Amino acid sequence: MNAIQTRLAAPGDAAAMSDLLAQRHRRDRSRIPSLTAHLSEPAAWRSMVDGLLANPRADVQVAMRAGAVVGFLAGERMLLGPADFASQFIPPQSIQSGLESQAVADGEDALNILRALYAVLARTWVDAGFFTHRISITHGDAELQEAWVTLGFGRYMTAATRPTANPVPLAKPRAIRIERASPEDIEDVMALADNLNAWHWQAPMFWPILEAPAAAAHQFNVAALRNADVPYFVAYEDGRPVGMQTFLRPGFTPPIVDHSSDVYLFEGVVSDDVRGGGVGAGLLAHSMEWARRAGHETCTLHFASGNPSGAPFWLGHGFAPVEHTMERTIDSRVMWARPKGS
Ligand SMILES: CC(C)(COP(=O)(O)OP(=O)(O)OC[C@H]1O[C@@H](n2cnc3c(N)ncnc32)[C@H](O)[C@@H]1OP(=O)(O)O)[C@@H](O)C(=O)NCCC(=O)NCCS
Repeated sequence: MNAIQTRLAAPGDAAAMSDLLAQRHRRDRSRIPSLTAHLSEPAAWRSMVDGLLANPRADVQVAMRAGAVVGFLAGERMLLGPADFASQFIPPQSIQSGLESQAVADGEDALNILRALYAVLARTWVDAGFFTHRISITHGDAELQEAWVTLGFGRYMTAATRPTANPVPLAKPRAIRIERASPEDIEDVMALADNLNAWHWQAPMFWPILEAPAAAAHQFNVAALRNADVPYFVAYEDGRPVGMQTFLRPGFTPPIVDHSSDVYLFEGVVSDDVRGGGVGAGLLAHSMEWARRAGHETCTLHFASGNPSGAPFWLGHGFAPVEHTMERTIDSRVMWARPKGS
């Protein structure tokens, strides 16, 4: 077998890269038939690949064997300002590599190819001060997951999808009033969002609660509340807000789910003192009924993979995983704890 060589990607690689992505998507669809059909064609990936190749913050390497492109890997340098809304979710000076940013040819050894590509890119990123790397994989791709785990990554977040028409069983029916929030309800919305952040701050998630992006989060929610297309639902009990589920389009739904028929569930939370009492299921039944009537066939959301509350709740209510985000943080002491003489 010819050895693998890596090099910087060039615009002329776009067709080969799109073809590799379509190959992977066909493999993914054989396991998860609900994934969007159109990405089985290379042409459907082309604009995403062209975007990667034109992105000045993206580093892209291809793997070659006997003159053919047999894999590629890309990552975007995230340089968000600390007060940016997205900084609530994306670590400073980190690398993001989405599902459009990597593929390995059918029949190739994924670990062999990704290890060669990641070695080159990780060197570049670490030298430039990017120590946290996040990559996405499709659910159930055991070979790809094994490759990334071998390279030091662990599961951080999961995206999951459910058909909106599937019934939501109400094990504990509860007398709540569910209302579509308006911009005047922003304080109730922010209080429930704070409650969700406080949950994620705890073990085993340990997500930081940052002050800097708080004003941007407020603005983001006000803008979303003004949007007539998708609702924020708030549940009230005895006049008190006790839970919410908020929706966006396209939100953060991964590209492998058909965006045209999907709605994204952004934040789902129930007040601490009434959790486990049926409010969450009641809200979900209400919001899935809204989504179905509005013509959205699927609903997608993310949860912290280790969330002991959200993960079992969504998985127990018909959401099936489609994508996992894997994360690795490199020990930054490597920059000063060096071999003698280097
Ligand atoms: C997740 C959450 C929104 C669910 O709302 P809720 O009102 O507590 O849920 P309900 O009472 O309607 O439904 C509970 C059911 O969900 C399932 N469920 C919830 N937690 C579960 C767990 N830890 N293990 C197994 N099943 C669980 C069970 O079917 C449970 O029924 P049970 O109480 O009879 O066992 C709420 O618990 C919450 O706010 N959790 C903290 C924040 C969070 O994780 N939000 C999601 C972010 S992705």
